[in-house]
Amino acid sequence: MSFDLTARLAQRQADDLYRQRPLLESPQGPLVRVDGRPMLAFCSNDYLGLANHPEVIAALRAGAEGWGVGGGASHLVNGHCGPHHELELALAEFTGRPRALLFSTGYMANLGAVTALLGKGDSVLEDRLNHASLLDAGLLSGARFSRYLHNDAASLATRLGKAEGNTLVVTDGVFSMDGDLADLPALCAEARRRGAWVMVDDAHGFGPLGAGGGGIVEHFGLGLDDVPVLVGTLGKAFGTAGAFVAGSEELVETLIQFARPYIYTTSQPPALACATLKSLELLRSENWRREHLGRLVARFRRGAEAIGLTLMDSFTPIQPILIGGSRQAMALSAALRDHGILVGAIRPPTVPAGSARLRVTFSASHSEEQVDRLLEALEQSWRQVSSSLLAELDAEEGEDA
Ligand SMILES: Cc1ncc(COP(=O)(O)O)c(C=O)c1O
Repeated sequence: MSFDLTARLAQRQADDLYRQRPLLESPQGPLVRVDGRPMLAFCSNDYLGLANHPEVIAALRAGAEGWGVGGGASHLVNGHCGPHHELELALAEFTGRPRALLFSTGYMANLGAVTALLGKGDSVLEDRLNHASLLDAGLLSGARFSRYLHNDAASLATRLGKAEGNTLVVTDGVFSMDGDLADLPALCAEARRRGAWVMVDDAHGFGPLGAGGGGIVEHFGLGLDDVPVLVGTLGKAFGTAGAFVAGSEELVETLIQFARPYIYTTSQPPALACATLKSLELLRSENWRREHLGRLVARFRRGAEAIGLTLMDSFTPIQPILIGGSRQAMALSAALRDHGILVGAIRPPTVPAGSARLRVTFSASHSEEQVDRLLEALEQSWRQVSSSLLAELDAEEGEDA
């Protein structure tokens, strides 16, 4: 027996699912250098344009001067530094929760929270379009795992009826590949009726959503009783790296005791927490970033609908164009690249089979003119890709006849 990696990789290629990493040769921003070429990018999660902000960079630099670079040890040994602690206090205040706990990545925050709260004999109910880290967390927990229909409170209610033990309902806040919002008022009401807890991963909502950037819970006005476990990530709109779980005193103490991805890892560099404190301040105070984003999204949707593209039910900076087949999505992404525009094609297994898409995302640092450039390139590329596909289909039919 041996590992036949060659065959596995060849199959991946044949299925049009092979993944490649574009090499970024400049900082994040609308205008980037990728694989040696200048490009206009619409695929970053830096929604508020803070990843390369001079004040955030200055805070990181000052943090490194004061605290050095490495965290040095886990939080429970001697890696829990002043800036980590200060950031946790600031995030608790920001989210209106008694406590917040800093994790090194969002993936780890999700694994840590779910596995610390659930075990054998418990139940975890997840939206079927949840982020991979939430699904992995549910599977790893050993609890009974069940997925309800996307954003469907009735489907959740049926599963709640069969749940056993401590029951956690887990959902993305803003769905990462679709851009729509979880119907939290309905989902939380169902959960509460059955005595279940709700955990929301609002990786893509913090920053763009809510009057003060407080994400989906601010948008819907939901408190600790509705959403006892609230996760945010810092690598997206915050423009830095890491994640947090916010909730009650007991929740955070439970995570410190039992969340293995919290306990058994080195703390993030403290200078990063200094940078995040600055980006949190900008995220909260600079409302113009949210307002500008809203205008860009509206402009894009009007233009894309006029071209005849299929958009999804989203008013967030995530504006996927639904294509269907992986090959077509790759072809459209490649055609856009020829126009100097970078947009990623998202294919299964990240999204369900037959729903490959271009995941267009906007940032407050894009201009309206750049949105117009995207629309022009889309119009030409779409025409080109759909006519070559039609020609291929005609040729195939000819062969069958
Ligand atoms: C919804 C969601 N949760 C969690 C994560 C993971 O966060 P991180 O990149 O900090 O690991 C991501 C994406 O990265 C995400 O989209």
